[in-house]
Amino acid sequence: MSLKTNGSFSFFTPVNIFFGRGSRYRIEQITVLKNSVSMVFLYPQFSDTELLSLLKSICKKIVISSEFQENPADQFTKNLAEKALKEKIECIIAIGGGSTIDTAKAVSLRYMQINGKDTTIPVIALPTTAGTGSEVTPYAVLTDKNGKKFFLNDPLLFPKYAVCDPELTLTMPHAVTVFTGIDALCHALEGFFTVKCNFFMEDIVPCACSIISSTLAKVINEPNNIEYRSKMLEASLLAGIILANCGTVIVHSLGYNLTNDFAFVHGKANSVFLPAFMELAFKKNPERAGKVLQYFNNDLHCFLAGLDTAFFIPEEADNQQIKAWSDAAYACYGRQNCIFDITREEISGMVKNCKKSIC
Ligand SMILES: [Fe+2]
Repeated sequence: MSLKTNGSFSFFTPVNIFFGRGSRYRIEQITVLKNSVSMVFLYPQFSDTELLSLLKSICKKIVISSEFQENPADQFTKNLAEKALKEKIECIIAIGGGSTIDTAKAVSLRYMQINGKDTTIPVIALPTTAGTGSEVTPYAVLTDKNGKKFFLNDPLLFPKYAVCDPELTLTMPHAVTVFTGIDALCHALEGFFTVKCNFFMEDIVPCACSIISSTLAKVINEPNNIEYRSKMLEASLLAGIILANCGTVIVHSLGYNLTNDFAFVHGKANSVFLPAFMELAFKKNPERAGKVLQYFNNDLHCFLAGLDTAFFIPEEADNQQIKAWSDAAYACYGRQNCIFDITREEISGMVKNCKKSIC
């Protein structure tokens, strides 16, 4: 039982999951796709013509959208929803990373809002990265007209299907492999310290940590190794389910500042704050923190340094900026979602430690 809860919890993961090598070809088993008019969102480097041919043979018509935006603009998703409405789209297929899947989910929700109906278009997500977990979450990260990230959070955003085929992740570039892997690690570790962590998660979090600690360095060194790709996709899926049910604490809240102010990609931004948060967690609850830190030799910073991914707050970040980030983290929902109390001073101290190497 966590420190702030009485053991009550809810658990909801309404996504049909196909997992394994070649599972992308199981899309022909998805009845909602058959003879449908479907919109297909593709990530920019998509080149699997066999998969596209299969989709064309299953659907009555497909409308391909190769326009891509990282952390898509809200207006971009609204424009696509208008297009979907015009084309009478019945199903949306997203083949790509978190931003592609988030785009599809947001378009489905916007479509419902524009159309005035009470159901969304079913989304079928085929992740080509391993870490965001978007294929199994009710969230979409968008960018507002001022360039700031914001969340859509609605059970209607859960994809109908997550088709997790590790062969689709073989094309991931080095940096994407690293930073999506670290994002998955953050979802697992932060989830473990949320008030929403429940007995399902008590076992799933250590499992995700064990896979990531033993696989991430290997997949970085051998990106074409399908076994390692498969293990990381498995960890990502587990961590996505943790994210969907537990949410995050303050690592993600702080990380968004580095994305907004210094254009750090999401996983890289989180990696800056994760070791310091785990140090704080160890101080607050050594027994619980020890359960997950053991997979990283009790030193997360050195684990990340071993992957060449030890990053810090840029030198250009001034004190005023850092104070604003700390204030926002103190006010954020993530702090309230944490099983232990975190003071304003503890956040400041934590953030200051992220300005220099401690390994
Ligand atoms: Fe994340």
